[in-house]
Amino acid sequence: MKVFVVLLVFAIGSVCAKDWWEGGNFYQIYPRSFKDSDGDGIGDLNGIASKLEYFKEIGMDGVWLSPIFKSPMVDFGYDTQDYREIHPEYGTMEDFENLIKRAKEVGVKIILDFVPNHTSDESEWFKKSIDGIPPYDDFYVWNDGITNPITNKKEPPSNWLSAFRYSAWQWNDVRQQYYLHQFAIQQPDLNYRNPLVVKEMKEVLKFWLAKGVSGFRIDAVPFMFEIEADPITGGYPNEPRNPTPESCPDSNDHCYLQHIYTQDQPETYDMVYQWRELCEQFKKDHGGDTRILMTEAYTSLPNIIRYYGNGQRNGSHIPFNFDLITKVNGASTAKDFNDRIQEWFDAMPNDSRIYANWVMGNHDNKRLASRYKNRADLINMLLQTLPGVAVTYYGEEIAMENQYIDWEHTVDTQACNADPAKFDDYSRDPARTPFQWDSSTSSGFSTNQDTWLPVHENYKKNNVLLQKRAPISHLQVFKKLVKVRHEPSFQEGTCIRKVIQNDDILIYKREKAGSDKYVVILNFSSNNRTINIQDSFPTISNKVEIITTSINGPYTDGEVVDATKFNAQANVGTVVVSVN
Ligand code: GLC
Ligand code: MG
Repeated sequence: MKVFVVLLVFAIGSVCAKDWWEGGNFYQIYPRSFKDSDGDGIGDLNGIASKLEYFKEIGMDGVWLSPIFKSPMVDFGYDTQDYREIHPEYGTMEDFENLIKRAKEVGVKIILDFVPNHTSDESEWFKKSIDGIPPYDDFYVWNDGITNPITNKKEPPSNWLSAFRYSAWQWNDVRQQYYLHQFAIQQPDLNYRNPLVVKEMKEVLKFWLAKGVSGFRIDAVPFMFEIEADPITGGYPNEPRNPTPESCPDSNDHCYLQHIYTQDQPETYDMVYQWRELCEQFKKDHGGDTRILMTEAYTSLPNIIRYYGNGQRNGSHIPFNFDLITKVNGASTAKDFNDRIQEWFDAMPNDSRIYANWVMGNHDNKRLASRYKNRADLINMLLQTLPGVAVTYYGEEIAMENQYIDWEHTVDTQACNADPAKFDDYSRDPARTPFQWDSSTSSGFSTNQDTWLPVHENYKKNNVLLQKRAPISHLQVFKKLVKVRHEPSFQEGTCIRKVIQNDDILIYKREKAGSDKYVVILNFSSNNRTINIQDSFPTISNKVEIITTSINGPYTDGEVVDATKFNAQANVGTVVVSVN
């Protein structure tokens, strides 16, 4: 029976070849910080275009760019002023078209960040909405608010809070109403209950698809819909207190409430399914490769899984899996990691065209190398060798670290809204510093000494050029990983995981019948261990060859070692292949 099932799987596998994004490798660029071509200290599109070969070199299939549309930059592009214009600091439409053209030549797909939940308050739509000009008058979530019977003063319609702290309602003097903003005051929420908004946003997607983009990363998806206003009073219900009040005592903090009326509303999933249909229709009409959707939703696992689709309709190709950012940390054991991984696999729909995905870092979280001291290689190893799609944030391949930025120089709106005593916990600036290309001025990011955020102080010791030249470096490990990842055992093989040595080590075998057998050994702990790989996997031979190993490890790539006395040192990860 088992044999039959296995044969069937391979038969199906060989009938439908993998689509380009399936099991793909993705890279996130923060455009302000990647490469500055014109010396203004701010990254730009021509800078990105000049580095396209680098994406190939590090094995990327697709690159997603954080927002590049015109913006006052209150939230560095996540406040869109015009969905059809390129932000002037980043270049022109011509530069963008050139980027797409060159990316096609090089063979890298470009994916844009689409921010549907809110615009900037400088958007023409919002200005017209303030003035009540149709059809924009109903493009945003406006409300009269409540008049306090004692003071006779206006108060917000509900207790809703912004993700960036304080009330999510802002009074507008001209319109004499409150508007909803689930993020900064300068980011008014669009009204998705207005069909014109839905239609307009679809036009935006088509506009960029026509320019040749390969898909979208969709921002802040769970926030798109709010509960409908009460049909009689026009009011909104208050959200209840967080069920674990001790975890969030400050009544201004977003976590103070349970967001049952402002997040994860059922209409949200339908909207994503509609956008998937739009992408598929575009492919039918215009040909070309599959255009994909990646969705950003920090929500419960069952909710994230709904973004994949509902059985009848498809949704996001890559509903970002943030579990390895949010549910584990530097103190987590191999077992903790394995449990999170298993949870995701258990939750995934049983469908051969649905892929797991793993995200280890992004522009909203602290740097991987700082979260996992001495274990950046090990974490990249996990990312690149698990089945499914891998997503890498720029700089993680060379183990860039957080750069501390003091209160006075902090520019991230989330940190600026936080308490000065706690701002660093909230600040996203430390993970957004310029990319470290080489040891020259401003790390080769810019010819300008003044960059929009300071370059990390370690850049002369840690940069791409040095790591490219060094025989042993994070970048070399990364390159070996992306190469071995293409082997059939990693692309199509099974993945049998075990936690051994008192929860210190995660060990797994990647194997496809008829291909090489690989074993990944990750020691998350600070204990040096000697293991017998055959205890976990008896079919592995006595000798294994090191494919790649953490730079602090005892072995060298290419070395053939004894599998029965394998040196699994503290904080070290290794990929080996069974030697026949
Ligand atoms: C998403 C983005 C984040 C931004 C927020 C508001 O979470 O990743 O950077 O601040 O949405 O658009
Ligand atoms: Mg520039």
